[in-house]
Amino acid sequence: MRCSHLVTGTETFVCENPQDFPRERTVLPPFESAPDPRATQPLVRIEDVTFGYDARVILSNISLDFPRRQVVAIMGSSGCGKTTLLRLIGGVLAPRAGRVWFDGARVDSADRAGLYAMRRRMGMLFQFGALFTDLTVFDNVAFPLRENTDLPESMIRDIVLMKLNAVGLRGTAPLRISEVSGGMARRIALARAIALDPEILLYDEPFTGLDPIAVGVTANLIRQLNDATGATSLIVSHDVDECFQICDTAYVLSGGRVIGYGSPAELRASDDPELRQFIRGEPDGPVRFHYPAPPIDQDFGVTR
Ligand SMILES: Nc1ncnc2c1ncn2[C@@H]1O[C@H](COP(=O)(O)OP(=O)(O)O)[C@@H](O)[C@H]1O
Ligand SMILES: [Mg+2]
Repeated sequence: MRCSHLVTGTETFVCENPQDFPRERTVLPPFESAPDPRATQPLVRIEDVTFGYDARVILSNISLDFPRRQVVAIMGSSGCGKTTLLRLIGGVLAPRAGRVWFDGARVDSADRAGLYAMRRRMGMLFQFGALFTDLTVFDNVAFPLRENTDLPESMIRDIVLMKLNAVGLRGTAPLRISEVSGGMARRIALARAIALDPEILLYDEPFTGLDPIAVGVTANLIRQLNDATGATSLIVSHDVDECFQICDTAYVLSGGRVIGYGSPAELRASDDPELRQFIRGEPDGPVRFHYPAPPIDQDFGVTR
């Protein structure tokens, strides 16, 4: 026996058989237009998170939102905790305090099965690609499909070639990683990151170590893949100009805090001294060029 609930704006009908719905009283809106309450929620939310390795606090009560379908950059100097933030989103690390949300579910308190299910929906492009250098390009991209699905090899082949085609490298499928350039390797890592059609792509320093042309190609690809697949992208980088070319919004971190958030234009227009120093790459400012030291005449034994 089937039992269905039909909820309308004003009334609830309970019927044993859906065909019994009293048609003249049914005022349901078309299915497609039913609002999905999650659609307006950010896909990822970091809420009042504090994290430290051992005694040292790296992130201090910070909150960041990552809206769906946007490309958001997380920027800040080396060592400020950008990679740590990605690890918290992936549930590799747990915060000392606060909450990490992915699509309305808690990452930080998820059990093993829940965490694995969430990670399958995330694509990660590690710093420097982290490809298997002894395998072919094809096998690198096929790896997550073989590990996580029971798809037949013929279907894996089609998906791999499709993903490689999306990054312009279908022709490299039979080559070994050692036979392709650094820029190509980064794009292959990108193809691997999108193999399972993730809802969010996490890029850790995607431009590091690339020549200027490859940087431009990679940046454009990140934007295009985001828009073509309807995914959400998060780029961790210290490369202000490149991030600003393609991101919708950016967070700037310093000293464990968020010191700026906004569109590239808003951030460039900021007159906050710390933000300006980072965005303009000025050698001295609130972040000092000189590490604290005794007076110079004392160190060199000079008397004036
Ligand atoms: N596993 C670890 N154990 C202890 N300290 C770490 C570990 N990983 C990173 N750190 C330290 O935490 C800080 C933030 O690291 P990270 O998130 O990698 O910075 P970023 O990616 O912004 O360069 C750095 O000072 C780094 O040395
Ligand atoms: Mg890092």
